[in-house]
Amino acid sequence: MDKQTVPFFVPFFDEDEAQEVVKTIKSNWLTSGPKCAEFEAEIGKYLGDPDIHVITVNSATSGLHLALEALGIGPGDEVLMPTLTFTATAEVVRYLGAKPVFVDVIADTLNIDLALAEAKVSLATKAIMPVHFAGLPVDMDEVFAFAEKHDLGVVEDAAHAFSATSDGAPIGCSKSDAIVFSFYANKTMTTGEGGAIVTRNTKLAQRMRVMRTHGIDRDATDRFTGDNWEYDVVAPGFKYNLTDIAAALGVVQLRKADTARDLRAAHATEYLNALSDLPLVLPNPGTNRVVHAWHIFPIALSENAPIDRDTLVEQLRAAGISISVHFKPLHRLTYLAETAVAEGDSFPVADRHFDNTVTLPLFPGMTSAQRQHVIAALRTCLKG
Ligand SMILES: Cc1ncc(COP(=O)(O)O)c(C=O)c1O
Repeated sequence: MDKQTVPFFVPFFDEDEAQEVVKTIKSNWLTSGPKCAEFEAEIGKYLGDPDIHVITVNSATSGLHLALEALGIGPGDEVLMPTLTFTATAEVVRYLGAKPVFVDVIADTLNIDLALAEAKVSLATKAIMPVHFAGLPVDMDEVFAFAEKHDLGVVEDAAHAFSATSDGAPIGCSKSDAIVFSFYANKTMTTGEGGAIVTRNTKLAQRMRVMRTHGIDRDATDRFTGDNWEYDVVAPGFKYNLTDIAAALGVVQLRKADTARDLRAAHATEYLNALSDLPLVLPNPGTNRVVHAWHIFPIALSENAPIDRDTLVEQLRAAGISISVHFKPLHRLTYLAETAVAEGDSFPVADRHFDNTVTLPLFPGMTSAQRQHVIAALRTCLKG
C-alpha cells in the first residue's frame, strides 16, 4: 500500500471552474471586463448589502495598498496592526512612506490586543488594520470604539475571512472604511491570485477604482467598447486590476464558498475533538456570535510538550504531512525590525505562539484517511 501523504492544501475545484475559464478564454475578453463586473456583482449579492461597492483586484496586497492610499495615508503617518500577520499588511504601509506600528495579540484569539494598542497611539496614528487571523472574526465593535476614540481610519485585513460572519453579518459588511479579501491559491475561495475590496464610502470607491488602473479615469470595457476612446490620467496610479480569466474562477468558487467553509469547519471540529487531550494549544473556534472561516488550522505546543516545534515539523514531514507556519511575527522580520520596531518593544504572546506553532493541512476535500493520518501522527509525536 502506498504511504499516506497529506498535502497542505488542495483547491476545491470541479469541472465548473474549468468550463467557466474556457468559456471566458473563448469570449476573447481576457482582462478586466464582463467577468470581473459579474464577479463584483455576485460578491455584492453574497454579502447581501445593497450599500456596498465591490472592487476586484489582483491581490489582497494591492487592495490593502489602494485602501490606505485612498484614505490619504502618507509619509509621517502611523498605522496600527497586529504583529502576528503576513508581511503584506505592513509592506503596503511602507509603500506609502508611512510607518507600521506593531501590537501584540490576545493569546486566546490571536487577534489584535486593543488594550495594548492604546499605548501605541500617537499624534501620527491615522489608521488601524485589524486582521481576522485564521478566519476568526475580530470583535469589530471594539475596534470601532477604539477608532472613534482616536479618530482613526479602519481597514480590515480580511485576507483569511471570506465566508466568516459576525453577529449574523458576513465579514465585508461592517462600517470599516475598507475590507480587503484575498483570493490567493489556498484562501477560502480562490482565483489563483486575486482579491476584492469592499467599502460603503462612494468617494473612496471612486479613488480606488481609478488608482487600480494607472490613475486612468475610465475603465477598459468603457474605452474599448464605447463610442469614445478618449481618457485622462488624474494621478500616478497602479496596475492592480483582476483578469476576466481569474474572475471566471471566482464566480464559480463564490457559489461554493459556504459549502467549502462548512466542510473545513467539520474537519476543524474533528481535529479539535481528536487532539484535545494532547499538550497543544488548539485554535479558538469562536463564540456563537461568529462563524469562523477556518482558512487555516494553526496549533501550538504547550509548555509540557515532549518535543519542540522544529522537531514536530520534521516528524510530521517524515510522516508525509505538509505543514506551514503562520506567521513569523512582523517584528522578527529583518526589514520591519529595522524600520518599525522601537527599542524596548516586546511581543511575548506572538513570540510564544510563533516559537511553538505549526499549521496543519486543512482543505474542503480532505479525506477521512488524510485527517486520521494527521491525527495519528500528532499522537505519535506527542505521546510523551
Ligand atoms: C493576513 C494576510 N494579509 C494579506 C495577505 C496578502 O494576500 P495576497 O496574497 O492576496 O496579496 C495575506 C496572504 O497570505 C495574508 O495572510
